[in-house]
Amino acid sequence: MRFAIIAPPIPTQKWKDNFEKIAPHIPLVIGKDSNYAEEVVCAMVWNQPRGSLKSFKNLKLIFAMGAGVDHILKDDTIPEHIPICRVVDPQMAFSMTNYILMALLNHHRSFYEFQSSQNRKHWAQFEFIERPVKVGVLGIGYLGMRAANKIHDLGFSVVGYSNSSKKTAFPSFFGNEFKEFIEQINVLICTVPYTPKTHGLLNYELFQKLKHPTYLINVSRGNVQIEKDIIKALDMDLLSGAFLDVFEKEPLAKDSPLWNHPKVKITPHIASLTYPKESTRQVLKCFSQLEKGLPLKNQVSRKKMY
Ligand code: GLV
Repeated sequence: MRFAIIAPPIPTQKWKDNFEKIAPHIPLVIGKDSNYAEEVVCAMVWNQPRGSLKSFKNLKLIFAMGAGVDHILKDDTIPEHIPICRVVDPQMAFSMTNYILMALLNHHRSFYEFQSSQNRKHWAQFEFIERPVKVGVLGIGYLGMRAANKIHDLGFSVVGYSNSSKKTAFPSFFGNEFKEFIEQINVLICTVPYTPKTHGLLNYELFQKLKHPTYLINVSRGNVQIEKDIIKALDMDLLSGAFLDVFEKEPLAKDSPLWNHPKVKITPHIASLTYPKESTRQVLKCFSQLEKGLPLKNQVSRKKMY
């Protein structure tokens, strides 16, 4: 019996080192090594190339080493009967929340304006006030809910939206109440999973419906946004700024106009990272539940796609 790791080189090395420390009794396969393919029972994956699990004929479990599973589900060569589970880690929620707070507070406290006055050695004591913000968290799943609660606890006015009804400490909307949600906010934080329903959701039509201008923070997936529409909305002042961690194509192309746009802040898909130790603990636990025939924790619904 072997576990496999299929991921781009940087996380692979970290996960391998960590896995070998925690589970030295389980040999690993890195990539789709055909010498041992038949022995692989569990694949830990992140952004696996299409078809790369095909040679694992005895695969019993696929484990997503990140919060999103869109990269797994887009691989139509994966047999339907193999359960897919994902890591759900409070440490990931902590770092995602901190990232969102950083983006929100920099906007709320006009940090970029102060930075620009510092560059000019200008003492702008009374020129910028706290911006009144009404924050909308679009997607109150595990990560979005944690961030929304923290923002609410800080005393901000927050509303949330999700597909299904959720019990929340702040007003929240679901299903066909999207319009009501979107029309009242001036900071839009996007934490939705990527599915056919959320593809291109952050588009010009949506930006027109927001309170103007709205500040956009996207930490979900690049294909949830239409980048040319973001630029158009920024240039028309429908959006006051955009803080983006994800992009339609990653790495972001050198010639993307987003890089130099004065109202755009860019980070390279780092809002929340996978912590190898906890992910390894969870994959081992999950596999042992499977072996015992117990219900699996954090199993992905192929229908919902998250
Ligand atoms: C990162 O984007 C993740 O899905 O964990």
